[in-house]
Amino acid sequence: MAAGDQKWSFVVVANRLPVRRVWEGDTAQWVPSPGGLVSALRPVMSGNPDAVWAGWTGVPGPGTEPFEVDGFQCHPVSVSQGELQLFYEGFSNATLWPLFHDALVPPEYHRTWWDAYRTVNQRYAATVADLAAPGATVWIHDYHLLLVPGLLREARPDLRIGFFLHIPFPARELYIRLPWRAEIVDGLLGADLIGLQTQLSADNFCRAVNRITGAKTTGRVIQHNGRATQAGAFPIGIDTDRISRLAADPAVQARAAEIHQTLGSPRTVLLGVDRLDYTKGIEVRLRAFRELLAEGRLSVDDCVLVQIAEPSRSQVTGYAEVRREVEQMVGDVNGNFGVMGRPVVHYLHQSQPIEELVAMYLIADIMLVTPLRDGMNLVAKEYVASRPDNTGVLVLSEFTGAAQELRTAELINPHDIEGLKSAMEAAARRPPAEAGPAMRTMRRVVRSNTAQRWAERFLDRLEACE
Ligand code: F6P
Repeated sequence: MAAGDQKWSFVVVANRLPVRRVWEGDTAQWVPSPGGLVSALRPVMSGNPDAVWAGWTGVPGPGTEPFEVDGFQCHPVSVSQGELQLFYEGFSNATLWPLFHDALVPPEYHRTWWDAYRTVNQRYAATVADLAAPGATVWIHDYHLLLVPGLLREARPDLRIGFFLHIPFPARELYIRLPWRAEIVDGLLGADLIGLQTQLSADNFCRAVNRITGAKTTGRVIQHNGRATQAGAFPIGIDTDRISRLAADPAVQARAAEIHQTLGSPRTVLLGVDRLDYTKGIEVRLRAFRELLAEGRLSVDDCVLVQIAEPSRSQVTGYAEVRREVEQMVGDVNGNFGVMGRPVVHYLHQSQPIEELVAMYLIADIMLVTPLRDGMNLVAKEYVASRPDNTGVLVLSEFTGAAQELRTAELINPHDIEGLKSAMEAAARRPPAEAGPAMRTMRRVVRSNTAQRWAERFLDRLEACE
């Protein structure tokens, strides 16, 4: 049998493949992507001769031949340069992303974007229909592929289909603004099981379905078109073992000490690690920090803020603006409060390897996670997993999925600047030993809900669907 004709009994499909292209001089190679989803699926995919992952390589143009990296069988789906603009930057990231994040920037509704979204979803569905063995299990991921469950169900009624949404599902009043709200709900209801990050998102989804289709929902089982679809909350975790191992690695610890010294060995390090995205509330924490310095409640003599902002979606509406705003604020704080040779905010608009991030988590006395809306936020969990001595304070927005689990974090409302300032000030004044009980509780939560457990729980429930 030719490799292209092989059928698989487990198919994962996501916008991106679990790999990224890394160049060394003139030669490029594929390496596994960092991140929760790849770690979560490694145990069920890597080295499994029956499992394949379909997705985009991240490089626009014709798809390449299937390949294998680190035990993951990868089946590329092509996305052209034009589709990148209309499907990925357009409908996925300038319509759905802002709408599903509480319309923090106005979502744009363009029929050409929708047409491209449908076309690309059809291509993903056709690819999977072709790859899946009779009765196979298919797990579809995220907001780029909302139509795939329905399209696939039509082509292959024999398949068991799961879908997981990594971002929030918005309140019904917001969702129903979408001109294609019915098509998308229909698409999703092709799945046997729909996983969401929180109970609130699962409730929002059921309410939207009910309003749009009139379908009967008992508990979270939706009856529609003669089929049942279950919805439920499956909060995603991290690869806790890997982060703990890195935190205990002498090389990472030495790097942490080196960074601390480079920063001027301050008494208090505040840290933010985010994709540079308007949902993350980076400007909110900078404003709070600036005001605390101006009011003399924090001092440049003993505090430093480090902000890592990973470049992201720079061509999409809203991202250039937030970058400008953040960088202006960094310049403003450093201009007004910095000392020669010693900035008070250290800002890197670069992505960092996980080893470097863990080194930073190790020296961060205060971790600032202040999104205005976030499906989960794995940085909050990574920070907790990097604190084996139970020190450190996690200042965490109530509007993240993580806040539903990490109840002993310093929960803040990022719209309430005075509340955020008080939490930051109190965290800076708290003796390290006092953070112990809260951190211990959070560490238990993070250890008990790892990325791997998340995948198991979802797949077990999917297998149990009638
Ligand atoms: O948070 C949703 C998400 O799709 C993540 O799964 C992913 O890591 C992140 O956004 C990055 O997105 P992009 O593919 O646009 O770089």
